[in-house]
Amino acid sequence: MNQVYEKLMNCYESCRKKIDFVPKVALVLGSGLGDYAQGISVEAVLDYKEIADFPQSTVEGHQGRFVFGYVKGVPVVCMQGRVHYYEGYSISDVVLPIRLMKLLGAEILFLTNAAGGVNVEYEPGDFMLIRDHISSFVPSPLIGPNIHSLGPRFCDMSDTYDASLRKIIRETAARLDISLREGVYLQFTGPQYETPTEIRMARILGADAVGMSTACEAVAANHMGMKLCGISCITNMAAGVTENPLSHEEVQETADRIAPLFKYLVTESIVAMAAEE
Ligand code: HPA
Repeated sequence: MNQVYEKLMNCYESCRKKIDFVPKVALVLGSGLGDYAQGISVEAVLDYKEIADFPQSTVEGHQGRFVFGYVKGVPVVCMQGRVHYYEGYSISDVVLPIRLMKLLGAEILFLTNAAGGVNVEYEPGDFMLIRDHISSFVPSPLIGPNIHSLGPRFCDMSDTYDASLRKIIRETAARLDISLREGVYLQFTGPQYETPTEIRMARILGADAVGMSTACEAVAANHMGMKLCGISCITNMAAGVTENPLSHEEVQETADRIAPLFKYLVTESIVAMAAEE
């Protein structure tokens, strides 16, 4: 059997031995949103280390566990702490949790992240609905023998961030009076922040925000036919936009500051998505 598939199946079986919860929405929590799971009515928690073969997250401030429960009655699985490529995992390990959540039943994937603002009109604390991404600076998680039971060899990426989900998030933000940008996310590998010249390149290429996650996850989810959407928290202006040096502390501070509003937007968007299905 294909090794990537075998590992995924081991994880799936290990999960299913412990819990039978079937989520509708899978939520990936970025920096600062890690405690979102406190707001859900929890049915089960599964530490990544309890899952056979599961890649473990090592970044400070990222807890590693799945939280299963209900967001205002909608069954969800939250990934509290993601796996980053810069930690040294293979790109197929990085997206394994996304594939796993789909196998567990999730039809919708809601990605969130902290990102640097490339668009000079943005400000730290802004939310950006992801319209599309540039994943060309990280390896594709689909490289290698195609796993046909997951999806096709050459998968179409023309409507990756589902237009109907984006409409729901836009309408939800307007209803809650939360201002929302919409733009293109570019993934670099990290872990170093970018140089000012790399940010200028990103802007020329059409990026509005940059980060170290998300696009590869979107590729894997789209391959499997999940409906997906994403929101970036602009935690800082990217390198060279202002004179300020970048720091993880600034990212964390901004994320903490806007977390309550972000959680509100995510919760109400999930409820609206479930109502439209
Ligand atoms: N660059 C890359 N990743 C990030 C940034 C940034 O400026 N801010 C938060 N995550």
